[in-house]
Amino acid sequence: MSSHEEVLRRSLENPEEFWAEQAEAVHWYRKWDKVLDSSEAPLYRWFSGGQLNTCYNALDIHVEQGRGENTALIYDSPVTDTQRRYSYSELRDRVAKLAGAMQERGVGVGDRVIIYMPMIPEAVMAMLACARLGAIHSVVFGGFAANELAVRIDDAKPKMILSASCGIEGSRIIAYKPLLDAAIDTATHKPDRCFVLQREQLAASMDEARDDDWQSVVDAASPCDCVPLEATDPLYILYTSGTTGQPKGVVRDNGGHAVALKWSMKNIYNMQPGEVFWAASDVGWVVGHSYIAYAPLLYGCTTLVYEGKPVGTPDPGAFWRVIADHDVRTLFTAPTAFRAIRKEDPEAVHLSRYDTSGLRALFLAGERCDPDTLSWAQQTLGIPVIDHWWQTETGWAIAANCLGLEELPVKPGSPSRAVPGYDVRILDEAGGPVAAGDMGSIAIKLPLPPGCLPTLWQNDERYKQAYLTTYPGYYLTGDAGFMDEDGYLYIMSRTDDVINVAGHRLSTGAMEEVLASHPDVAECAVIGPHCPLKGQAPLGLVVLKAGVDRADADVVRELIQLVRDKIGPVAAFKDAVVVERLPKTRSGKVLRATMKQLANGEDYKVPPTIDDPEILGELARSLDPIGYPRH
Ligand code: COA
Ligand code: AMP
Repeated sequence: MSSHEEVLRRSLENPEEFWAEQAEAVHWYRKWDKVLDSSEAPLYRWFSGGQLNTCYNALDIHVEQGRGENTALIYDSPVTDTQRRYSYSELRDRVAKLAGAMQERGVGVGDRVIIYMPMIPEAVMAMLACARLGAIHSVVFGGFAANELAVRIDDAKPKMILSASCGIEGSRIIAYKPLLDAAIDTATHKPDRCFVLQREQLAASMDEARDDDWQSVVDAASPCDCVPLEATDPLYILYTSGTTGQPKGVVRDNGGHAVALKWSMKNIYNMQPGEVFWAASDVGWVVGHSYIAYAPLLYGCTTLVYEGKPVGTPDPGAFWRVIADHDVRTLFTAPTAFRAIRKEDPEAVHLSRYDTSGLRALFLAGERCDPDTLSWAQQTLGIPVIDHWWQTETGWAIAANCLGLEELPVKPGSPSRAVPGYDVRILDEAGGPVAAGDMGSIAIKLPLPPGCLPTLWQNDERYKQAYLTTYPGYYLTGDAGFMDEDGYLYIMSRTDDVINVAGHRLSTGAMEEVLASHPDVAECAVIGPHCPLKGQAPLGLVVLKAGVDRADADVVRELIQLVRDKIGPVAAFKDAVVVERLPKTRSGKVLRATMKQLANGEDYKVPPTIDDPEILGELARSLDPIGYPRH
């Protein structure tokens, strides 16, 4: 039996024994009463009764054990021409002072703090300062519009917001403060205070009654110690796209999270303490939470905060330059970043300018890794390229080639096998098992391992209804796919309206709500056809109200702007077309899957339930002038 198989089996046969063993690697103020608390099943809690502090485990412990001079964090920002290293001691001291400043203004255990920041070290410090205090952070990605921030403010009800004057997108300076002000104006809930980091690229105007200058308050603050927290206390809330405009507040606990992430650094990523781990993502996404902020520090590695892009900052050699400059051992990013590099530098000419020999492995996630991109990355880098599958909800990989256990043979198109802790099943509509190789809905038998969401923020019912009721006893991943005879998983598509654009998870339902709010729109649909760079790209199809007498192009321009204003640039909503009618079933259900096949140029069967097959021809004629299908 292979090592992966053996560890997977052990983790599933006796999860409590397995995870109690792994939990020994974490510092606890008080040991748990129960490893797995099933008393409220199907809601499960890990390590109940245990007390710890995640920030203590990520920073203080390393300093106390003599590793204070090791580098904890490297900031590399080609957009500001800055490189800066923080030792564990320095990062601990800065985080303790920031936490002190927050505590002096009334932030304590269980209070929510929203973090709306660009990719700068202070964003990680902000997360760790919350963890230190027991405040629950909720990071909102900078590419969301003020309205999305307002929705999150009203759901999380933060006591404080931490932000910065601006972000930098390539050569553009994005003012964050006006977006923050607009969001607070729109939201019903108002935070007591905001700390705003003034960056030298742009000074933000401050509201004297509400805003504090970050640097001044931190300079004046006394450091604050780590607060012992219950293992089951929330560490953070991370909002992710659901099926409506109301995002889901995924909750992460302290105990299970620390245990699972620390275990993953060795067993999945094969890292050693002291080595440099680079997750080229953003702190606003789950990858950024787990593998920029927490896991590398929990394990005593050096993490890298990169404020730049794979291309254009300044060229497609940017990633190779960072790897060489900082001796990166493992890189983790989304396939779309590699597609972007390949598009600009297909022969990887830029790679030869740098010494990247220290790089041991590339991990890809966030979207399906197409075999073409996989093979280009393998040939270009000559190291293991590992596709692994996970979700905001799980917080760490569900399926992966766990390099720290053993290197399994790679099968292109598959993130390989279930990670220890996850009992992954492929189910048919009735909840029965399907045969190897047959498509089905991908579910995980409960309980989920430590680190996965215990619930949605203040909404156990929505958690149960969205994830636990379709197949009682199982967690519904929302992905469809199959498992082959060797237990390799293939993740093929979503079963809901989530689309994946440049590795970013977006809801077409939320975009439809925005389009439908335009006064000229009678009905609409948003689909996610294939995009050669971003994987999928949203496409809006709109039917105008009778009597609207305006040029289609004008309406389309307004719709694109509306999505940008309401959801944000991250939606990457750039294409919409006015059509006469939408294809529907006789009972009035819009045939989105058929429209997507048509926009992709795929063969499709005319659904037998379609109301009027003629519409499909009409639709094809409308899509052709705007460049669909894309190749
Ligand atoms: N703040 C403000 N705006 C942001 C932003 C941020 N933090 N992040 C992205 N945006 C903006 C972009 O500038 C872009 O705006 P534009 O329409 O005015 O050009 C828009 O949101 C869409 O962003 P994106 O889809 O990322 O497109 P891009 O052209 O800027 O970059 C890639 C494309 C492929 C280079 C980039 O998406 C990438 O590097 N992705 C891989 C890494 C990653 O993000 N992974 C996430 C999960 S692992
Ligand atoms: P997010 O919550 O943003 O991490 O997005 C999670 C979703 O992205 C998953 O449910 C999948 O649909 C998709 N996804 C993530 N990683 C992979 C992968 N390696 N292969 C296929 N799909 C993936």
